[in-house]
Amino acid sequence: MLNKDIPAYQSLFINGKWKQAKEYTSLYSPYSQSVLTNIPVAGLEEAESAIEAAVQAKSKMQQLTAHERSTILSKLAELLQFHREQAAELIAKEAAKPIVTARGEIDRTIQTYKFAAQEANQLYGETLPMDAAPGGEKRLGYTVLKPLGVIGAITPFNFPMNLVAHKVGPAIATGNAIVLKPASQTPLSAYFLAELLEEAGLPAGALNVITGSGRVVGDKIVTDERISMITFTGSPEVGIQIRSRAGLKKTTLELGSNSAVIIDEDTDLEKVVPRCVQGAFAFQGQVCISLQRIYVHENIYETFVEKFVEETEKLVTGNPLQEKTNVSAVISKDDVGRALSWIKEAEQNGATLRTGGTTEGSIVLPTVLTGVDRNQKVSCQEVFAPIVLINAVDSVENAITEVNDSRFGLQAGIYTRDIQKAMQASEKLEVGGVLINDIPTFRVDHMPYGGVKESGTGREGIKYAVEEMTELKLVIINNNF
Ligand code: SIN
Repeated sequence: MLNKDIPAYQSLFINGKWKQAKEYTSLYSPYSQSVLTNIPVAGLEEAESAIEAAVQAKSKMQQLTAHERSTILSKLAELLQFHREQAAELIAKEAAKPIVTARGEIDRTIQTYKFAAQEANQLYGETLPMDAAPGGEKRLGYTVLKPLGVIGAITPFNFPMNLVAHKVGPAIATGNAIVLKPASQTPLSAYFLAELLEEAGLPAGALNVITGSGRVVGDKIVTDERISMITFTGSPEVGIQIRSRAGLKKTTLELGSNSAVIIDEDTDLEKVVPRCVQGAFAFQGQVCISLQRIYVHENIYETFVEKFVEETEKLVTGNPLQEKTNVSAVISKDDVGRALSWIKEAEQNGATLRTGGTTEGSIVLPTVLTGVDRNQKVSCQEVFAPIVLINAVDSVENAITEVNDSRFGLQAGIYTRDIQKAMQASEKLEVGGVLINDIPTFRVDHMPYGGVKESGTGREGIKYAVEEMTELKLVIINNNF
């Protein structure tokens, strides 16, 4: 039985038209496990049509003026504002994101497109002092930013609107065409976006949305020579494979983390504990910068743990469409099983389970573990589930060593009133972003966002993605001629 409230996106979006696929698959609600709708599964032939449509649309995109691209993006932001509730419900249904959090994602997505609209009008180059080098006299040198052509975007399930916006927004702002393969768990948001962009006046073929498997459609996008850049958010395993198969394409890879915060002994726990609980369990911990590891100074450790468990147990679990729900289902049954087995592994190796550790249907209850050995999966892998560990440390210095003992390096936080310790942390933490007196889960959409080590390469945040999605072209006028 299909869900009547779900729009019937039973076609691929190619060259400005909705096209039937040869194959379909059921899309299940992560919360109720009922079938939401049927989703097209593109094959190689459809992927080829989508890429060719984008190639043909390149020149249309390049002919649009900055103000025309900006207007399309502003219009898109307005349309999304108008359809805010419908868009949030779509996310809540397909991703099981609690509705209040889903509305927050839509508000951020609107912001992201507004930032992209601004950036479209700010593609500045620079003039060069050519005569700084002997032989460069009487020459005028300047740079301009040129679109790359076609961008291949492969997006994850956890922010089905906003992480798509971080790829589609800057691509349009810079005059590129796009082939988008959204996560197979959350295709509806991407098709919804395609509808809105059509209404906003994007030329046909400039955005093509195809759902299908990573092995077929994803690999075609990654390896096709007509595509100039891949922008991907997802697992390190897939990211590394993309990098090895993308040839000379540019690649921006945002690959997740096991993010940590350090709590120094002078921290005001009344304010900080609820903030940390939010960072650990928002959207069931399925955020690349979810708070996964907390290192607390031993002098306040027991008080911190007690308060943290108390706050965690106040969280309301349940249906993502209910206003009061804080934590709902994780994305798949496999992930429920994985989360439980990782908790068990940590317990078997000496960790103490303080709360959670069990399920209600497909909901993993918010789980707090203490005294976790660093080699346990809940510590050293990306957990992507509502599980957090809290360990005691005897100094900020040792806490920094613990945080850095990771294959990842996306964002990290430190709470301290000591400016020297804060500065030490900002210097020594091996991450793309350091948050002083905040959790690593903080993000607004114009800041540079990306990591080091296995957290990826390149940066998102519209201005920074614009740099990734353009080529610098140099022009020199010889006035000696
Ligand atoms: C992510 O999961 O990488 C995105 C986090 C965010 O945008 O808040």
